[in-house]
Amino acid sequence: MVTVQDLRAWKSEGRRFAMLTAYDYPTAKILDEAGIPVLLVGDTLAEVVLGYDTTLPVTMDAMIHHCQAVSRGAKNALVVGDMPFLSYQASLEEGIRNAGRYLKEGGAQSVKFEGPFPELAEALSTRGIPVMGHPGLTPQSVHAFGGYRVQGRTEDAALRLLDHAAELEQAGIFALVLECVPMELAREITQKLSIPTIGIGAGPHCDGQVLVVNDLLGLSDRTPPKFVKRYANVREQVLDAAAAFRREVEEGSFPDDEHSYH
Ligand code: KIV
Repeated sequence: MVTVQDLRAWKSEGRRFAMLTAYDYPTAKILDEAGIPVLLVGDTLAEVVLGYDTTLPVTMDAMIHHCQAVSRGAKNALVVGDMPFLSYQASLEEGIRNAGRYLKEGGAQSVKFEGPFPELAEALSTRGIPVMGHPGLTPQSVHAFGGYRVQGRTEDAALRLLDHAAELEQAGIFALVLECVPMELAREITQKLSIPTIGIGAGPHCDGQVLVVNDLLGLSDRTPPKFVKRYANVREQVLDAAAAFRREVEEGSFPDDEHSYH
């Protein structure tokens, strides 16, 4: 099984790695079999699985429910449970209890939260809960940002992000997601940290790369952001399969003899 120690070792060996989101058992099983070493039960669950416009509405209970399914499918991958909006922002104690639920009930080996909360990172790390950080573009703050925008573009913002990354590292996190930041800044942060950075819309210089699995598979009909690469067009295949089934049922050619009992 992949551990947080492996990720730290890979950084020092210069070994790059992939991470994907997963929200259910069959997908987690396939991704695990494909050798994806890190599976994130992302709060993007709210958008890509539950149909909300933002990640804000998803609850801790829903996240745990999906995390349990992913954990059952992941035999080798490290499972990371994403802390949803308001599961950790109100108080340290609430953050610790909710993060603990991922390990106790969800079957995850680690958690991720958005934003610069070094006190929480330290509190979790010292209690044996490995933490992945996620400063930069933090979609839970979409209303504060006024939209999903590239972060760290001005000198001040870049310095702030560098500071947040360093503070989180000092607080004991094992890896850091960099979402939508200029590639030069991602390179600088990656060089400065001794823990791995995992980019999404952060260019090629991060130690790891993550994509939302629905984007990778082409499951959605929305125009993906610039940083997404579609590796399959599963939506088209599902459309074709469903239309073929409908046609055969309507014309009476399914079920045929081969698919019937005698
Ligand atoms: O929730 C999520 O899917 C994420 C990734 C975009 C990193 O946080």
